[in-house]
Amino acid sequence: MASRVVFPCFPVSILLVLLLSSSAANAQLSTNFYARTCPRLEIIVRNAMIQAVRRETRIAASILRLFFHDCFVNGCDASILLDDTPTFTGEKNALPNQNSVRGFEVIDAIKANVESACNATVSCADILALATRVGVVLLGGPSWQVPLGRRDARTASLSAANSQIPPPFANLTALISSFASKGLNTRDLTALSGAHTIGLARCTTFRGHIYNDTNIDPTFAATRRANCPVSGGDNNLAPLDIQTPTRFNNDYYRNLLVRRGLLHSDQELFNGGSQDSLVRTYATNPIAFANDFAAAMVRMGNISPLTGTNGEIRRNCRVVN
Ligand code: HEM
Ligand SMILES: *[C@@H]1O[C@H](CO)[C@@H](O)[C@H](O)[C@H]1NC(C)=O
Ligand SMILES: *[C@@H]1O[C@H](CO)[C@@H](O)[C@H](O)[C@H]1NC(C)=O
Ligand SMILES: *[C@@H]1O[C@H](CO)[C@@H](O)[C@H](O)[C@H]1NC(C)=O
Repeated sequence: MASRVVFPCFPVSILLVLLLSSSAANAQLSTNFYARTCPRLEIIVRNAMIQAVRRETRIAASILRLFFHDCFVNGCDASILLDDTPTFTGEKNALPNQNSVRGFEVIDAIKANVESACNATVSCADILALATRVGVVLLGGPSWQVPLGRRDARTASLSAANSQIPPPFANLTALISSFASKGLNTRDLTALSGAHTIGLARCTTFRGHIYNDTNIDPTFAATRRANCPVSGGDNNLAPLDIQTPTRFNNDYYRNLLVRRGLLHSDQELFNGGSQDSLVRTYATNPIAFANDFAAAMVRMGNISPLTGTNGEIRRNCRVVN
């Protein structure tokens, strides 16, 4: 840095101009984006999340998933938050989301508080990114610096939500290519799947695994079948982590080692394939998991954000301005 200032020779100046213009062209997010325009932002988000988690622990999981489903569909642009209207089709009724994603009221409440502190300044996409981090921390998970400066989409895509969010019956090959198509590698896939250390899943998402798959602990399968019949009970819930469903820890991986993954896609990460050794590492080394999860969350949060003058700062997270 200093050398640029001390020796502004011609080639260096050109280089500097090129660097600056290229960074403007695909503007980067930054952790201090609202430092001057909304200095209390992180405190506001934190306080609202503390209240929400006190009311219902699961909400931290639901908001984490909301962020994942936002980022995987045309980037982290709050498109998932848009309500359907007679003239607008959003993502909320896409197959992976319908009767499934939740937490919208909490984002609304945070947005209301943020708007009264800093009118028309902070995007819904950034609020979701910050709320996600707070929720993970409140349940005992790692923290990370959240890059900010995302703007909100003016559109949403039901079809992209249907095709770009990986389904629970996906095999390892499909999971790897789904994440690769978002610029995420296999390590990101395996670390981010550790999000299933918290939260619940509906019977319909794991029925095939507990009745038809062979790479499952029979006692565990029997336990889950008790509340997930072959037909009916689609919305009956089971914890994704049978050990500690409200603690963000590495039990998800310890379960996989003993074939107690709830979803078919979970157990695919430990089924004699390329991710077995990393699953073993995370199962025995919670620090390695915490570090990789935090780094992968930043990478997921960086998926094609709208920046600069693209998109908008939505006033109400549910509707375009
Ligand atoms: C690897 C591919 C993934 C698949 C196939 C998958 C699939 C699912 C399914 C089917 C459910 C249950 C939904 C329902 O019953 O309605 C679920 C829940 C959940 N997922 Fe994933 N997921 C994946 C990756 C991720 C990632 C990357 C994250 C976050 C970083 C995440 C976070 C969660 C959380 C926290 C829940 C519980 C939500 C709640 O309790 O409300 N998942 N996932
Ligand atoms: C917020 O800002 C908009 C536009 O700058 C303005 O019209 C509106 O009155 C403001 N609302 C509040 C509550 O200050
Ligand atoms: C994985 O699933 C895809 C379909 O999603 C299928 O084409 C492929 O053959 C499967 N691969 C393996 C190894 O089972
Ligand atoms: C199990 O597999 C059979 C044969 O493919 C299929 O007909 C059945 O619907 C599956 N059962 C569940 C619960 O997924």
